[in-house]
Formats: sequence, C-alpha cells, structure tokens
Amino acid sequence: MLEAPPPLWAAAALGLTLLGLMVFLCRRHWAMLRIGYNEFLLQPLRNLLMGDSKEQRILHHVRQHAQRGDPQSVLDAIDTYCSQKEWAMNVGDKKGAIMDSVIQEYRPSLVLELGAYCGYSAVRIARLLPPGGRLLTMEINPEFSAITQETLDIAGLQDKVTVLLGASQDLIPQLKHKYDVDTLDMVFLDHWKDRYLPDTLLLEECGLLRKQPGLCLFSSWGVSVEGPVAETGGVPVPSTSHLLLGQALAGAFCPWTSP
Ligand SMILES: C[S@@+](CC[C@H](N)C(=O)[O-])C[C@H]1O[C@@H](n2cnc3c(N)ncnc32)[C@H](O)[C@@H]1O
Repeated sequence: MLEAPPPLWAAAALGLTLLGLMVFLCRRHWAMLRIGYNEFLLQPLRNLLMGDSKEQRILHHVRQHAQRGDPQSVLDAIDTYCSQKEWAMNVGDKKGAIMDSVIQEYRPSLVLELGAYCGYSAVRIARLLPPGGRLLTMEINPEFSAITQETLDIAGLQDKVTVLLGASQDLIPQLKHKYDVDTLDMVFLDHWKDRYLPDTLLLEECGLLRKQPGLCLFSSWGVSVEGPVAETGGVPVPSTSHLLLGQALAGAFCPWTSP
C-alpha cells in the first residue's frame, strides 16, 4: 500500500482544522453573516435594480397591507415584511412585546424616543398611550423621518406623535422652549449606541428627567450592570439616579427611582 508523505498528512490535517473552524464560526455567527450578506450584497443590488431603498419598500408594503387607522395591522405588515423579505433595524415583535409591557406597567403620558427609523416602535408606543398622551420621536435622517410620518398617518396616530427631524444632541436642548416639555415620563434610547450616554446626560442637564420614582429609561440593547453612571462603564444612567435593572431577551429596561 502506498503511504502518503508526512507533508501531505500535515496539509490534510490543517485543511480539516480550517474547515472545522469555518463551520464553527458560521454556526456561531450565522445570524450576523446572514444580515451582512443581506445588508451589503443583496440590498444594494435590490436598490440598484428597483431604484428605491429598503425603507421605501417597507413603507410600500405597509401602504398595501395595513388597514388605515389600525396600528396593529401596521406593526404586522412591518413584521411580516422584515421577517420574510428584508431584515431591518426595527425593535421587532419580540423586544416590542417587552416594550409593550413596560409601557403598560409605567403608563407614561409623555415619552421621548431617540431614533425613529421607519416608525415601527413609534407606532408600538403611541398605540398604548393614554388619552392625551404624547410621544416625541427624533430622527436624524430626512428620508426615515418622512417614512415615519407616513407610517404614523396610516396607523392613525399622527395626533399623538410629533416627529422631529434632526440630531438628538441638537433637538434635546430645544424640548423645553420649542416643544413645551416640562419633564419626560419615559425615554426610549434607540439611536446609535455611542449617543446613549451623552444624550442621557444632556437630558439630565436640560432638566428633562424627573427624579421621582416612575421615570423609565430604557434601551433596546442589553445592559447588564446596576448602579450610578460613574460605575456602569458607559451605561446611560444619570449620576443622581439609581438604576434598577431588569433584563429579558435582548432588551434591557431601567426603571428609575430616587436613590
Ligand atoms: C435602530 S434604528 C431605530 C429603530 C426604531 N426605534 C424602531 O424600533 O422602529 C436607529 C435610528 O436612529 C437614527 N439616529 C442615529 N443617530 C441619531 C441621532 N443622533 N439623532 C436622531 N436620530 C439618530 C438612525 O438614523 C436610525 O434611523
């Protein structure tokens, strides 16, 4: 019988190890790889061929499939499109359900959202607000803010929500005087992560965060520490406040009480 020379064995072993490593990495990061493939390959190709953007296609699907004045049908249309056709950075139905329970528990009258995107979470929040309740949502991208406005119009929630176009860091200091805000009952941080801390501190500096129990500050990213901001390594909790943290799925909610 012919014997393979040692370098061939070594090459085969190396090849198998690399293959195993690739399979391991693919399995572990499968979701990320799929999103990357969709975002950086499929989506630009679709945009080029169809002459529109993913966000416009989402809105188009909502126009076609949602019932005017029915917020749940708008959420269902977005969830269906984004689970079956194209992934998008909405908070989604799983984290959305947790968000619903936070809103139902805290019953805020005045909510601020940072990062509207296509208006999915704005619809989710606004549909649960009590009569007279109000949501202000900030979006830096003009295309997304226009889509959010139309999504809210279709859901019939336009009277409860004000869409503010601009960067949160520019708009927050205007809230008191231009938008008649005293203090906020709830803040949903869902823009870019590196703005969570500076914007929370800015909200505090502008006197927009209540110190009494009942204010709820939460983000769609998992946060797993507890304590004043100085000890949390960047988690957006104002220094005067204590963070009580509950974590479920990938969402973290930070009900806020006086220290
Ligand atoms: C994760 S998406 C928001 C998703 C949305 N909350 C939802 O669940 O339907 C983040 C959005 O924040 C916006 N954004 C990022 N930085 C911002 C800033 N400084 N001010 C306002 N909007 C910002 C982005 O343009 C993007 O549309």
